[in-house]
Amino acid sequence: METLLKQANQESIAMAAELLRQGELVAIPTETVYGIAASALCGTAVKKIFEAKGRPQDNPLIVHIDRMEMLDGLVSEVPEGAKKLAEAFWPGPLTIIMPRGKQVADEVCAGLDTVAVRMPSDPVARAVIAASGLPLAAPSANLSGSPSPTTAHYVFSDMNGRLPLILDGGECQVGVESTVITLAGDTPVLLRPGYITKEQLEQVLGESVQMSGAILEKLKEGETARSPGMKYKHYAPKAEVTIVKGDFSAFCSYVEQHAKPGVFCLCFAGEAQKLPVPCVEYGAQESGAEQARHLFTALRQLDEQGAEQVYARCPADTGIGLAVYNRLLRAAAFRVVQL
Ligand code: TXA
Ligand code: MG
Repeated sequence: METLLKQANQESIAMAAELLRQGELVAIPTETVYGIAASALCGTAVKKIFEAKGRPQDNPLIVHIDRMEMLDGLVSEVPEGAKKLAEAFWPGPLTIIMPRGKQVADEVCAGLDTVAVRMPSDPVARAVIAASGLPLAAPSANLSGSPSPTTAHYVFSDMNGRLPLILDGGECQVGVESTVITLAGDTPVLLRPGYITKEQLEQVLGESVQMSGAILEKLKEGETARSPGMKYKHYAPKAEVTIVKGDFSAFCSYVEQHAKPGVFCLCFAGEAQKLPVPCVEYGAQESGAEQARHLFTALRQLDEQGAEQVYARCPADTGIGLAVYNRLLRAAAFRVVQL
């Protein structure tokens, strides 16, 4: 299949909408990461997403809408808390899991009785949803297991030949996937940290939000994940990544001891010149938002530069930093050294 990569404009958005109505796939930008979209109402279209990504069938997808009325039929009920969160954070990088409605294709929910929904803020994503008139199921536009793409260039390198159209809407502003919260149970549970923080959610809900154990720990053998995506190795570059915790001078000595060809560092802005091996920087130490925006690109750059072994500086695990730490832990397959 030939894959067209087109600048997002009126013409290419109309073409995307037409393809989506015909049950085809289109990669689109969102404010978080690029997604591979298909009609959430059409099972055969959704199946193509799983094939294109090489994604396990038991990992459900997020449905993207552009207005509240689209929830009719997608969910069987909008819980009170979901109304509050939607009011506060939509359009934006928050996914809310709710009891599933009848219109959603079975393939979207992977056998669960719940459905994940979000209303993106990215203007191109919104224009595509509006032009197609369809709720769009869309996972991140990477091959399953590799880092989520934050530019159309990286979508093309993973997906060339696997879908007919990629819309280029520039670099994603947030850089990590949406925060995922479930309101389908008795208490709200944070399933995936993102740009919208646990503290922000608690403030709007007026109650505490539980944190899924899978955010910071590897699932044990036989344990079931509340969010199936959490059980897969994710975001991983080809290089072997190790998170090294400690202050910068301890980090420097550790890297000096382990320096050899193929060893790289993933470090904070301004640190590269002080380290004895090649480095990729991923944002200022104080700025979780900057780290979030650059992390996935940095992981891909390490592979492009031939890194075999990567020692990574550890982000804070609070606020947006928690999202960065969660993704980096998975990239590192939970390898952490405490100095
Ligand atoms: O920012 C994002 O959310 C991006 C963009 C494209 O919108 N999408 C994205 O989708 O990250 P994906 O498929 O890569 O991640 C969806 C996550 C997975 O961890 C999946 O297991 C979880 O959401 N999920 C989806 N539906 C669920 C459900 N009904 N119950 C629990 N977890 C669910
Ligand atoms: Mg993904």
